[in-house]
Amino acid sequence: MSVENYTTTNTGIPVESDEHSLTVGPDGPILLQDHYLIEQMAQFNRERVPERQPHAKGGGAYGVFEVTNDVSAYTKADLFQPGRSTEMLARFSTVAGERGSPDTWRDPRGFALKFYTEQGNYDMVGNNTPVFFVRDPLKFQQFIRSQKRRADTNLRDNDMQWDFWTLSPESAHQVTWLMGDRGIPRTWRHMNGYSSHTYMWVNADGQRFWVRYHFKTDQGIEFLTQAEADELAGKDGDYHQRDLHSAIERGEHPSWTLKMQIMPFEDAKTYRFNPFDLTKSISHKDYPLIEVGRMTLNRNVDDYHVEMEQAAFEPNNLVPGIGPSPDRMLLGRLFSYADAHRYRIGVNYAELPPNAPRNAQRRSYAKDGAMRFNNPGDPVYAPNSKGGPQADTDRFGEPAGWHTDGEMVRAAAALHAEDDDWGQPGTLVRDVLDDAARERLVSNVVGHLLDGVSEPVLERAFEYWRNIDKETGDRIEAGVRAGPR
Ligand code: HEM
Repeated sequence: MSVENYTTTNTGIPVESDEHSLTVGPDGPILLQDHYLIEQMAQFNRERVPERQPHAKGGGAYGVFEVTNDVSAYTKADLFQPGRSTEMLARFSTVAGERGSPDTWRDPRGFALKFYTEQGNYDMVGNNTPVFFVRDPLKFQQFIRSQKRRADTNLRDNDMQWDFWTLSPESAHQVTWLMGDRGIPRTWRHMNGYSSHTYMWVNADGQRFWVRYHFKTDQGIEFLTQAEADELAGKDGDYHQRDLHSAIERGEHPSWTLKMQIMPFEDAKTYRFNPFDLTKSISHKDYPLIEVGRMTLNRNVDDYHVEMEQAAFEPNNLVPGIGPSPDRMLLGRLFSYADAHRYRIGVNYAELPPNAPRNAQRRSYAKDGAMRFNNPGDPVYAPNSKGGPQADTDRFGEPAGWHTDGEMVRAAAALHAEDDDWGQPGTLVRDVLDDAARERLVSNVVGHLLDGVSEPVLERAFEYWRNIDKETGDRIEAGVRAGPR
């Protein structure tokens, strides 16, 4: 039988069989000159790229971001100008689990966005919680290791987690979020996304503002109880992945409304909380949310390896009108992600479809390297008088940052009136959670502590929670002392 779409080798040569290797007689040995067989085996052995170190398990979709309010007074970024609509890609993830781990493990959820703007790709790489566990990038690696697996048993270990947290009081705010309902969203569609960090916005007149992003789910916040999540982890480890994919297939396109907290540049020095410490929220009473636009996810990816596994989100992708802030975690992240991509995907990762600019021209002098297939050509250097690209400082020059001066030290900034680690989580427990949510928080923590946490870590955990809220700490201790129910 003759077919039009006959199988070929990777170089287009027709293959003789999809099923039978070349052998000496029907029962004889395989021959080395069966190049197609060897190509199949070799290609298979190289199908995986390393999974992301944190945030290995995840999925996402394409969508669009539409501006609904005029915020041009605060930023000149093209994607936030009135009337703009920008193509985008989103990826949601857990943090600690490996690529095949259950979607419903208790963990913050990554909320990574890539906007294909006319000024190049802008990435907003946040989480579903407004704060984070540590405030210095030197502690991030240690923190992630404490969440992953022990060296000896290869098991995750709550003792290790609480050991790190109780020795790192700055984690209290995020741990309170994590142990409450936000620690297991019902689906990715039912959670908010936050920048967590403060970023800088710059308007067309060069005025600077400090901003935080809040993507509020239009589906409403919903969560899974620990029992529901445990059951789902066994029944359907890909529950969140399946939910998003099938919702989009059904035409139920999830959306989020972007609202910003915007702080005048000068306020940062005297504000009661350090706005550059991402273990702290900025009070909504002090800086209310201002609507910007809506993001809608409307198209599933066609190929997970190409478009998700090789998607490279990086907080350093900032476009004119958006800059970093002095948050040292953010400054650390500006290095870390591109380094991870070069290792995980390869030096030319930005050439790949999800990462290449779609709505902006690329006029970079970068060239060569493994798998490079579209070099810019001559001239290969700048400055040049041969017609190569030149930086347009008139159009894109802007205040690069902020004034800074001081002795070199290794210390946490503690210059703001309410810099302590326990105040905000205490407020969260007492004033934001209702009785039922507080009850679930206590029950979640008790269950977690009863699952392998031993002295002296246990005693420190009770103290940690009493520092957050005396009554909650006492209830947690009583629950643990009473033993498993
Ligand atoms: C993923 C480093 C803090 C959100 C990653 C990856 C690295 C990393 C190396 C894997 C990247 C890859 O292989 O593609 C760091 C460092 C941090 C830090 C060094 C602190 C200094 C944070 C914070 C947030 C965050 C504070 C949220 C506010 C994410 C997300 C991903 C990720 C969402 C997954 C991105 C994706 O879906 O591809 N991080 N991270 N990280 N991180 Fe961080």
